[in-house]
Amino acid sequence: MGGGKKRRQRGPQQLSSAVRLDRRTLWTLNAVPGEAVYGESLRRFSGKEHRRWDPTRSKLGAGMLRTKGDPARLLPAQGETVLYLGAGHGTSVSHLYDHLCGAENRFGGRLVCVDLAPRCLRDLTFMAKGRPGLVPVLGDARQHGAWGVLLPTKVSWLFQDVAQAGQVDIFLAACQRFLQPGGTGLLSLKAASERWTGEGETALFKGVEDRLLEHDYVVEEVVELTGYEDNHRLFVVRKPEA
Ligand SMILES: C[S@@+](CC[C@H](N)C(=O)[O-])C[C@H]1O[C@@H](n2cnc3c(N)ncnc32)[C@H](O)[C@@H]1O
Repeated sequence: MGGGKKRRQRGPQQLSSAVRLDRRTLWTLNAVPGEAVYGESLRRFSGKEHRRWDPTRSKLGAGMLRTKGDPARLLPAQGETVLYLGAGHGTSVSHLYDHLCGAENRFGGRLVCVDLAPRCLRDLTFMAKGRPGLVPVLGDARQHGAWGVLLPTKVSWLFQDVAQAGQVDIFLAACQRFLQPGGTGLLSLKAASERWTGEGETALFKGVEDRLLEHDYVVEEVVELTGYEDNHRLFVVRKPEA
């Protein structure tokens, strides 16, 4: 009856030792048990406390739910050093920390997160108190000279979510300086932050993709975030090998 195939109900998927996908909900193993960061719900799985990762508050979370590929490939390897530009109040950063570092930084990761706004830095600094390996930086994503010294070697994963015009140029410059050849770059792009030239959103996103291709980046996927974050796309790219 009804003709259609029954959709197979998948069991929970472990995307890493700290990230769990349960039906359409992401959870991370709380690195600071008992503490919610932004009012998210807490729940125990196998006796361990997890935090619900809200995809309407995090483009990384939204991207992981929307990607057509394996969501785990949007995450860095645990214990790596990574760079996050436009950290905001730390919603995504907090979940990324759970994955990358874990409680008391047992994986030995380092998450350098940059934001321009002092009020964001206040929250990030507070968050960093119980999270060794989280390094908040008050700075401009475009001014590498002011904070680049914190990253003496190139990183394998770089995420950018700065709501300001010229997002692709900021991203290309940051990848050029800080991303390893073969490394993964994620660019969350908000159409409304770009200068309006009347070309329309589809053309704008296509122009961004063309810029990335011109610089020999492999564009692995352009993830449509509408529904979680309207007028946003997440560009998942790989830097060319040297
Ligand atoms: C959409 S919010 C980031 C939200 C955050 N990524 C999250 O998922 O929780 C964008 C942030 O970019 C920051 N920003 C804008 N221009 C910037 C720049 N040039 N350098 C660093 N941060 C910038 C803003 O202060 C703001 O906090």
